[in-house]
Amino acid sequence: MMRRTLLAFCMFGMLAAGSAVCGLAGCGRNRQDSPAPEFVLTYAENQPEDYPTTKGAYRFAELVYEKTGGKVEIQVSAAGVLGEEQSTIEQMRFGGIDFARVSLSSLSDFVPGMNVLQMPYLYTDTEHMWQVLEGEIGDRFLDSLDGFGLVALSWYDAGARNFYSAAKPIERLEDMKGMRVRVQESELMKAVVEALGASAVPMAYDEVYSALEKGSIDAAENNWPSYDSMRHYEVAPFYTVDEHTRVPEMQLVSEVTWKKLPEEYHEIIRQCARESAAYERRLWAERIQESEERVRSAGCQVVELSAEEKGRFREAMLPIYGEYCSDYMDIIEEILEAGKR
Ligand code: GCU
Repeated sequence: MMRRTLLAFCMFGMLAAGSAVCGLAGCGRNRQDSPAPEFVLTYAENQPEDYPTTKGAYRFAELVYEKTGGKVEIQVSAAGVLGEEQSTIEQMRFGGIDFARVSLSSLSDFVPGMNVLQMPYLYTDTEHMWQVLEGEIGDRFLDSLDGFGLVALSWYDAGARNFYSAAKPIERLEDMKGMRVRVQESELMKAVVEALGASAVPMAYDEVYSALEKGSIDAAENNWPSYDSMRHYEVAPFYTVDEHTRVPEMQLVSEVTWKKLPEEYHEIIRQCARESAAYERRLWAERIQESEERVRSAGCQVVELSAEEKGRFREAMLPIYGEYCSDYMDIIEEILEAGKR
């Protein structure tokens, strides 16, 4: 992790120097006639250019530029160029990167309360998750980053996560036994996989393809668009729709940056983040289908777990609630209750 952080620092330094020379690199707009911005800020995104969250980031940058009359320019760096998620979060805490979109799994080792919103089989479906995130509970979590050096701006969609494997399909709980499964660098995700009898291998997102290819892991887990866009289906062609987690994502700004920005820009930036989030959600819904179609036509074998088998996965994961959420059982109850309506 240390080595990656250092690497990310060097990359960041090079990029900052580069953008001073090339001006609006990454924004893709001609702004020669615009006045010089007062603030030129960085935005880290670890997904490829054509991914819904990246397109959301570009939309956000455009809106902020327009609505601040060109005074705030946000330069989006996609494809993990500014470093992987954990190091991005570390850097943001002291202002090394200004904005990012991150998965709550990466955030929750810094902000443990965030585990609550990504517990296995917590939401019945996507509507239930959005009902929670857009309601009073979601707002409470957006306001819960005080003291962590970060400010939350909006929620992004990342669908449901499923397991996929290289050599043989996962059709029953027993198939997980002994499998080496890549997880995000998150204690909760380690526990989720271990509860199924597999052994968890924490690893950064951009290392998964080659680990599957080399055989140093047997399986991984992610949503359809990530499975597709990172081309994991080429090296792990068995995809099992078990929907074990729905992990929301957040747009964040560094608190250091936030305090540097005049108050008059705060509400504008929040509003632009929310607008970009609504846009991302629309793109997400389309992309799930496109990705599923693409990987199926590339020859992937998709296993749909029966309700009974899914129930066995769910049951095996239940003890994790006591381990990770014992202080938050009231919120868990509220979330489960919302799902019954
Ligand atoms: C999703 C998420 C990424 C995350 C990745 C992972 O693709 O959008 O932000 O890094 O999962 O599994 O690491």
